[in-house]
Amino acid sequence: EYRMKIAIDGTAASGKGTLSENLSQELKLPRLDTGLLYRKLAFVYIKSLKLTSIKNIIDNSILKSILNDFDLNDLESEALKLDLYGNFASRIGKLDFVRKKLKIIQIEYVENMIKKKGGCILDGRDIGTEILPNADFKFYIDAPIKTRAKRRFKQLYSTNKSIEFKNILLDLKKRDINDKSRKNSPLILSKDSILIDTELLNPQQVLRKALYYIKKNK
Ligand code: DC
Repeated sequence: EYRMKIAIDGTAASGKGTLSENLSQELKLPRLDTGLLYRKLAFVYIKSLKLTSIKNIIDNSILKSILNDFDLNDLESEALKLDLYGNFASRIGKLDFVRKKLKIIQIEYVENMIKKKGGCILDGRDIGTEILPNADFKFYIDAPIKTRAKRRFKQLYSTNKSIEFKNILLDLKKRDINDKSRKNSPLILSKDSILIDTELLNPQQVLRKALYYIKKNK
């Protein structure tokens, strides 16, 4: 029996989540958006503090105690999508003990899904390099930063008319730098992954490209 593991990595707002979701539908494989794990951790951490103490210093002992009984439940909350949590997720994603624990959770998920569903799709920053180094297919999704910022702006503006394009752009720039320059499992375009630039493509076209590649190489 064939078991398929697919790794999707890429920059923030590149369209990697959309591709992951569409591939999941098309191939009938479960999908885990691993960014949500980092976002949920950020969310629980921030909620556990008094607002005044969200400053520059991260309290490792609080984070560790949250991680002690951390799991894959409750990743659906819309609140996790806020940039506040995305940005904070990027900061705590630098910490070794955070990545170590979240890796264990991700590997458990993968083993479970391989048994139950014959495979799975994970998307994030270090999937092809760290979590699924032996994935059957690895994709790296990217687009120019202005394109990504425009997409994010459009998304967020529909619910919040007070956001500013320049702040979105700045946030994405910071996040790119953070995610690509951290020592532990940075976002990199590895030699064995397929680069898809989504600048001039719609979600269906991105999906078709990925499927074409998968079918050709299966
Ligand atoms: O994909 P996202 O924007 O939801 O991810 C939020 C942040 O979480 C991202 O900027 C860095 C961190 N992250 C990570 O370090 N490793 C992953 N596999 C996924 C996300």
